[in-house]
Amino acid sequence: MKILVTGGLGFIGSHTVVELQNKGFEVVIVDNLSNASIDVLDGISNITGKKPILEILDLREKADVQSFFKKHTDIAGVVHFAASKAVGESVENPLLYYENNINALVYLLQELQQLEEVCFIFSSSCTVYGQAEIMPIRENAPIQKALSPYGNTKQIGEEIIQDVSKVSSIKAVLLRYFNPIGAHESAEIGELPLGVPQNLVPFITQTAIGLRKELSVFGNDYPTPDGTAIRDYIHVVDLAKAHVVALQRLLDKKNIEKVEVFNIGTGKGSSVLEVIKTFENVNNIQLPYKIVGRREGDITEAYANTDRAFNVLGWKPEFTLEEALLSAWKWEQKIKNQ
Ligand code: UD1
Repeated sequence: MKILVTGGLGFIGSHTVVELQNKGFEVVIVDNLSNASIDVLDGISNITGKKPILEILDLREKADVQSFFKKHTDIAGVVHFAASKAVGESVENPLLYYENNINALVYLLQELQQLEEVCFIFSSSCTVYGQAEIMPIRENAPIQKALSPYGNTKQIGEEIIQDVSKVSSIKAVLLRYFNPIGAHESAEIGELPLGVPQNLVPFITQTAIGLRKELSVFGNDYPTPDGTAIRDYIHVVDLAKAHVVALQRLLDKKNIEKVEVFNIGTGKGSSVLEVIKTFENVNNIQLPYKIVGRREGDITEAYANTDRAFNVLGWKPEFTLEEALLSAWKWEQKIKNQ
């Protein structure tokens, strides 16, 4: 069965391609290489023994999207990752985000709605909840006004899919990720941030390896036990597997609603200082860090209620924070030597 993975050379995309291939799916990747390296293809095939098909194209080019579906007429499912994801950049260049995350989605759905039956998995984010009032966060928690154009594109994306599913054969699962971290245990694939990492774990590993002088902890005056902000860090391989389970559910017609929403996290919140300490302990490294002011737009805490993912989807995470931080460090050391 042929599955299209857009953004399949990216961080979460590449790990999902591996898990899809492990389950016997044939994968076609569409990627424009804007934030990914073609070498990732080798990383994937070193793990699975199988090279996925790659079509280098930009989903913002409507004609190219149309040509893709003329060539690949037998796509059974789509996992859509291709999008821009840097919050700060989205504030500086909102139209880039609306074009890349919304236009591309629209063009893709325009082709998909012509097909007989389509299973669509969408990369959404816990950012849609903003600062939720109740922890852990359930899927029915109110959606709050987005704090950035990036966050807004995830909200709008969810709404577009809901609307289109009502008038087409498209059925979808919206996966709201919490904070994906780590790398494949083989260290063949992992996260490759462009420039200075904005996210915590890549900044930690780059500091540990000496690429950054020290880590800044953004705020220790949050109303949390140690004063630093709390997030739900999920191993990227667990997250990747959630996509395969969600896709299989749609392919097996087990979905109850046309569009279903699931939180994908561990259900456990960890503070920034806890992440630092855990990284230091499991990898036996001292991490230079200093406390600085809060980062604008950051929330105090977000961690998932994963009951629905477990009870309805039948998915649960297997890796611990320790294992995720071990794999992130192994990956950082591997890319240093490349
Ligand atoms: C961020 C985005 C979120 C997006 C996600 C994608 C914001 C406000 N949110 O989530 O919308 O879906 O990335 O991966 O940008 N931290 C430090 N020092 C650092 C980096 C981070 O202390 O150098 C802290 C942050 O303040 C935060 C925690 O670490 O409390 C996690 O930060 P990060 O990895 O950037 O993720 P989010 O901000 O949760």
